[in-house]
Amino acid sequence: MEKAIQVKGLQKSYKKLHVLKGVDFEVEKGSIFALLGSNGTGKTTIVKILTTLLKQDGGTAAVNGFDVAAKPGNVRQSISLTGQFAAVDEILTGRENIIMIARLRHLANPHQAADDLLKRFSLTEAADRRVSTYSGGMRRRLDIAMSLVGKPQLIFLDEPTTGLDPEGRIEVWKVVKELAGGGTTIFLTTQYLEEAEQLANQIAILHEGKIITNGTLDELKKLFPPVKAEYVEKQPTLEEIFLTIIGKKEEK
Ligand SMILES: Nc1ncnc2c1ncn2[C@@H]1O[C@H](COP(=O)(O)OP(=O)(O)OP(=O)(O)O)[C@@H](O)[C@H]1O
Ligand SMILES: [Mg+2]
Repeated sequence: MEKAIQVKGLQKSYKKLHVLKGVDFEVEKGSIFALLGSNGTGKTTIVKILTTLLKQDGGTAAVNGFDVAAKPGNVRQSISLTGQFAAVDEILTGRENIIMIARLRHLANPHQAADDLLKRFSLTEAADRRVSTYSGGMRRRLDIAMSLVGKPQLIFLDEPTTGLDPEGRIEVWKVVKELAGGGTTIFLTTQYLEEAEQLANQIAILHEGKIITNGTLDELKKLFPPVKAEYVEKQPTLEEIFLTIIGKKEEK
């Protein structure tokens, strides 16, 4: 299998705070990879390093075959990032936001690109309203639409559904599934275990500076055999698995 991302021994400190202590993982092309971790464990730090916004202190990371430290320009050309906080311009309309990005990316026909993306994200009706009048879900959808301008092979979504209501969350999930269905590789971070359960082919848990578990949902579930109770088989939820793994590590 071809790898979209390869990370080995990644280290990062902010002054005395040692956040990443040797992070290792790989992401296969065309898959959805979910990075899980509690607040402040370093998920955004990993995203920033992989998207060339921040330099690591040690270890290596390659994105689409390009080393992030040696070939940042090539990495940037093959990815897009939707950051943890929506990066849309409030004063512009939805359409103007997309056209702006399409111009920055030197697309031949920015208006056509905007029409297509607005339609795909059900924003056609709201397209000519200022973003300041959009709901949280609409903003997120616009933000993701903007990150798709120019059809990147790999997209990073840092907590794409934080702050959304369940309906908005389901809409974003639908979009992510469609993208993956079309062959785009997706790297997402989340604190919602259900989100990883719904979307990801591969789930990695970041805890105390390292990836402590990495596998498919089925593999993670096998770590914890179902509890048998009077003819009823109960499968553990990812939340139970997550808390048990973290709890276990803390006991050591
Ligand atoms: N520029 C910075 N300077 C100093 N400390 C930082 C900086 N950026 C992040 N940190 C610290 O590094 C740790 C990891 O931060 P990071 O944003 O990567 O975590 P996260 O897993 O994305 O958290 P969240 O779930 O809250 O988004 C935190 O303790 C944070 O306070
Ligand atoms: Mg974060």
